Amino acid sequence: MCGIVGYIGGKSASPILLDGLKKLEYRGYDSAGIAVFENNSVEICKTKGRIADLEKKLESEGEFSGCVGIGHTRWATHGAPDDINAHPHKGGNGRITLVHNGIIENYIELKIMLEQKGYKFVSQTDTEVLAHLFDFFYNGDSLEAMSKVMKMVRGSYATAVLIEDRPDEIIAARKDSPLIVGIGENENFLASDIPAVLKYTRDCYLLDDNQIALLTKDTIKLYDINLNEVHKDVYHVTWDVEAAEKGGYDHFMKKEIAEQPKTVRDTLSPRIKDGRVAIDELSLTDEEIKNIGTIHIVACGSAWHVGMAARYIIEKLAQIPCEVDLASEFRYRNPIVRPNDVCIVISQSGETADTLAALREAKSKGAKAVSIVNVVASTIARESDDVIYTMAGPEIAVATTKAFSAQLNVAYLLAIRFAKAKGLIAEQDERKLCEDMLKLPEIIEKLLGMDDFLKGLAKKYVDSENVFFIGRGLDYAISLEGSLKLKEISYIHSEAYAAGELKHGTISLIEEGTPVFAVATQSDLLEKTLGNIKEVKARGAQVIALVGENHNAADEFADDIIRVPEINDILMPSLTVIPLQIFAYYMALGRGCDVDKPRNLAKSVTVE
Ligand code: G6P
Repeated sequence: MCGIVGYIGGKSASPILLDGLKKLEYRGYDSAGIAVFENNSVEICKTKGRIADLEKKLESEGEFSGCVGIGHTRWATHGAPDDINAHPHKGGNGRITLVHNGIIENYIELKIMLEQKGYKFVSQTDTEVLAHLFDFFYNGDSLEAMSKVMKMVRGSYATAVLIEDRPDEIIAARKDSPLIVGIGENENFLASDIPAVLKYTRDCYLLDDNQIALLTKDTIKLYDINLNEVHKDVYHVTWDVEAAEKGGYDHFMKKEIAEQPKTVRDTLSPRIKDGRVAIDELSLTDEEIKNIGTIHIVACGSAWHVGMAARYIIEKLAQIPCEVDLASEFRYRNPIVRPNDVCIVISQSGETADTLAALREAKSKGAKAVSIVNVVASTIARESDDVIYTMAGPEIAVATTKAFSAQLNVAYLLAIRFAKAKGLIAEQDERKLCEDMLKLPEIIEKLLGMDDFLKGLAKKYVDSENVFFIGRGLDYAISLEGSLKLKEISYIHSEAYAAGELKHGTISLIEEGTPVFAVATQSDLLEKTLGNIKEVKARGAQVIALVGENHNAADEFADDIIRVPEINDILMPSLTVIPLQIFAYYMALGRGCDVDKPRNLAKSVTVE
């Protein structure tokens, strides 16, 4: 989390830094700051709050005019989000100024060491340790200081440093937190993510772990931790700047919900050829697929919900045992992973710290890692054996929608590919499934037309304090997502339960008027879920049934019904999730919440 930017060139740095930070605000938004060289000294302006608050502060305190600077938008880990803990931080007697994204794990021992050497700390952050440590090692050679700092700290970082006696350079480094260098003409840029520099350049270097970038306005030099010069290929960005803009929508979330037909189409069509699945990116051979012992699916948040759905689909079609783990659990439970296992890693950002660690854990035990990732050339993508990109384009709203849909559709493709290799799917069944999948974009388009109906539904339930979601099998996976979507952006307490599990405790929370979404689209489980709907209805729940359009069995128990066009059962999650996203959106809007930037969250979670 946290976003960092840097600029060195001939223009005034401050507007460029602020603009870049706005593009990175999805990474954290509890405080922000910039530092700019002003007549050979580095001036800082920082504040609690958002970039808009920083802009106001700059206006009232006087703008900077210097042409070299760094900036930061924060998601607090160490120390409250206040003016003092906001970045940039100073080191030494102000000689060093830096911003940092990540966590310095050994900061306490380093802090004690530095205090003994006379350094004074003013903030509660781990970052201040980096600033003083840099000062401690700085002897006129910035590269040497950076290398020494990197060798001494444990943890994750992307950092950018200004040194008072070197007004013509910015030095930066990364380990386990993303950092890119934007290549300009007579100017260069630094950022945690590409959208921050896209207005100025499409050419970037994507730094790898333990690499250092030394920027002047005319040169970019890259080094490894031992200061050997590194030569990297230029990464040319092909997508448009508009892809990361709101494009007339009130919120990114609404725009991204609306983009789902395209996202699903773009994700599927290159991988369905002549009516059959062909995933060119997958290097696993039929023989290797036949020999897979267990598939370990690891992910966090919504991506984990995709994993839950993927398990049902893969086990059903390809009959390969699947385990689905939260990445943060997997990495520390010493999982049993064998060399003929496959680890499927799902991540929109490709930078989630726990997911990355889980990937490394699985690989270290010999498993092959196949990732489903949205952000091209992100760390998870680069470290996977095979990467299947979701073609969602930049996703800005913190609550994921279009990336979720794309991930789900990659799961379908993988399941069919595995089933084919094992001879478990007949050609005509594969063709029928592909045909159905290719209909999904059009049906999703139709579901988007339910906007007014869902807005009305949200109005009816907007004052709810607790909302439950129940479902079985694939409907359970979507219940988890529907519930998360609702709680993360509307702050309404919500829980999702496997419908059959509700009676083992949670049903005691159902009282007169409690809204319960019952997702019931899986034909073989319909009767069972219906039984659970009756159970909650008998306890006073207001039931909102989410069913296939031809099913009317739930009608007599439901207070409200959302009907979804019917298609092959395994594809239903791709449809049922859409009204749940739209419902959550309107609930959040109705409660006056910041839909795109919910409190306490960040989109890219690069800390454990
Ligand atoms: C954050 C986001 C979620 C996302 C999760 C995993 O919590 O708010 O929407 O599902 O991280 O992120 P990833 O980038 O790995 O998919």
